[in-house]
Amino acid sequence: MKVRKAVVTAAGWGTRFLPATKAQPKEMLPVVDKPLIQYIVEEAVASGIQQIIVVTALGKRAIEDHFDRSFDLESALRAKGNLSKLKEIKRVSEMGEISYIRQKEQLGLGHAILITENLVGGEPFAVFLPDDLIQSDVPAMAQMVEVFNRYQASVVAVERVPKEATSAYGIVAAEPVGERVFKVTGLVEKPSPEAAPSNLAIVGRYILTPEIFQALHQTGRGKGNEIQLTDGLQLLLKQQPIYAYEFTGKRHDAGTPLGLLKASVEIALSRSDIGPEFSAYLKDVVRWL
Ligand code: G1P
Repeated sequence: MKVRKAVVTAAGWGTRFLPATKAQPKEMLPVVDKPLIQYIVEEAVASGIQQIIVVTALGKRAIEDHFDRSFDLESALRAKGNLSKLKEIKRVSEMGEISYIRQKEQLGLGHAILITENLVGGEPFAVFLPDDLIQSDVPAMAQMVEVFNRYQASVVAVERVPKEATSAYGIVAAEPVGERVFKVTGLVEKPSPEAAPSNLAIVGRYILTPEIFQALHQTGRGKGNEIQLTDGLQLLLKQQPIYAYEFTGKRHDAGTPLGLLKASVEIALSRSDIGPEFSAYLKDVVRWL
């Protein structure tokens, strides 16, 4: 079956970005001149996924406004003759077919996925966590779709992390079965380095079969007293195979201020409009360090 739908989880508090996130969603923080969530929606669309379900929460309305049309802004830009920005904001409002559902309680990633059960229906779907921003030639999710098509089973994106960092990620135990592809034999959420079965960490891109919902219904509270997707996947593994895919590209942890800053620097450097001038500026700054 084709992957036609994506779930984007955007319901977290954004505590690490306070006070910036006191009155705005963290997913609306900009990397250069685009909010984080726009990069995610662009990756979904570039991966052939048009139907996008965003899990939001209280205080997240700016996300809906961002992808909506703004006739006032459009006519103001038209009147000023700023046609390039006009084109850009119209493009944003025409991106994908987006629906929204609210997570009314902060019960974890597994719960955020679970509430999309009826919207997703009985088909495989992609999951994006906007904290992970991935720069790559072929969009990371497009690479995952290719792996899904080959194996017709759930796929989690993974990346190797230093052993001392395992307690920040879901970690998989897995055996290599092909180029960058592993067959998962176990998953554990945020293990200590001593308990981690490997250094293959789950990154915020998944393709899940619809049976995950049944598994999540049965998943009790795990780490942080929340319903963890990793624990749901561990249950799913008892029924069907799961694969891990080591994507190509550069992942930025945009879920922390330092990570967002690094992402901003690298994405700015890669842009043809501001990259050269920014690069000259950085070289100048570095001389003083
Ligand atoms: C979540 C998942 C974790 C995964 C990570 C990827 O954790 O629970 O398994 O490795 O995303 O970014 P979070 O970072 O939201 O705490």
